[in-house]
Amino acid sequence: MSGQADPEAQEQKYTMGYDEEFQVLLRRRSAANSASHLMPRLSSGMRLLDVGCGPGTISMGLADAVAPGEFVGVDIEESQVEMATAAASAGGHRNAKFQVADAVELPFESNSFDVVHSHAAIMHVPDAGAAVAEMMRVLKPGGIISSRDVILSSCFTEPKHGDFDNAWKAFGKLLSANGGHPEMGKEIKGVLLATGFCDLSVSASFECFAAKEDVDFFHGFAQGWFFSDQTMAAAQKLGVASAEDLDRWRGLLDQWQADPAAFSTIAWGEALGVKPR
Ligand SMILES: C[S@@+](CC[C@H](N)C(=O)[O-])C[C@H]1O[C@@H](n2cnc3c(N)ncnc32)[C@H](O)[C@@H]1O
Repeated sequence: MSGQADPEAQEQKYTMGYDEEFQVLLRRRSAANSASHLMPRLSSGMRLLDVGCGPGTISMGLADAVAPGEFVGVDIEESQVEMATAAASAGGHRNAKFQVADAVELPFESNSFDVVHSHAAIMHVPDAGAAVAEMMRVLKPGGIISSRDVILSSCFTEPKHGDFDNAWKAFGKLLSANGGHPEMGKEIKGVLLATGFCDLSVSASFECFAAKEDVDFFHGFAQGWFFSDQTMAAAQKLGVASAEDLDRWRGLLDQWQADPAAFSTIAWGEALGVKPR
């Protein structure tokens, strides 16, 4: 697990940013496709906290699963909380509410939630251990923590075109430079154990882009977000990639999209743990 944020990277601590080019990826997510490891453990009446909820696309299914129990989603970014609140209102998820909060300083009483869920958020918190400790604090004894984060070294684009694998590595360096943890999906078991969780259930899964429309989506997402001027400026400033690298990788990504064998995945590690009674 990497340590604190690189002081050079303070301008953009959260690597993914909040632009539409990244939000398109979050809109594909749901509780069914991104929290299937947790769903069988949820039941009506539970009180559930979703940490780093983003625009709330996963949150809605979680809220439905515990209704009429209270669902609370928190995010450090106000625009995300506003989007999630609007989505809950439009969808009639009346047990769901959202507020701004930092994962390392949750504004909730100790021992007050049955479940604390987090998807693709712990990996962005520089002091991930502090965030997990906060999640444990607000859980009731016997309550469940659920996390899902990326395993970057297991993500791939196949077939290989040139040195495109180095673009994945550059993304990992960018995440680390911002204090993130590109391998959190496989480190999380150790983090939960070190925090004191018991009865762990750990697994891994792939989000696949193999059908033509999904390959096209991945290509558009990577060109629009990773190869955006903003992300690329950050990569260059941090010395993660040169302008020549970026131009070459953009071209290789186009070649990959045109390849009939194109197949890409995002690899995820999931973990459930129980707060001891
Ligand atoms: C990749 S998005 C994931 C959103 C949502 N959970 C999903 O998977 O679709 C990560 C979210 O974590 C939030 N985040 C990052 N650091 C945070 C922190 N310290 N406390 C709370 N939220 C944080 C970001 O603002 C962002 O909305």
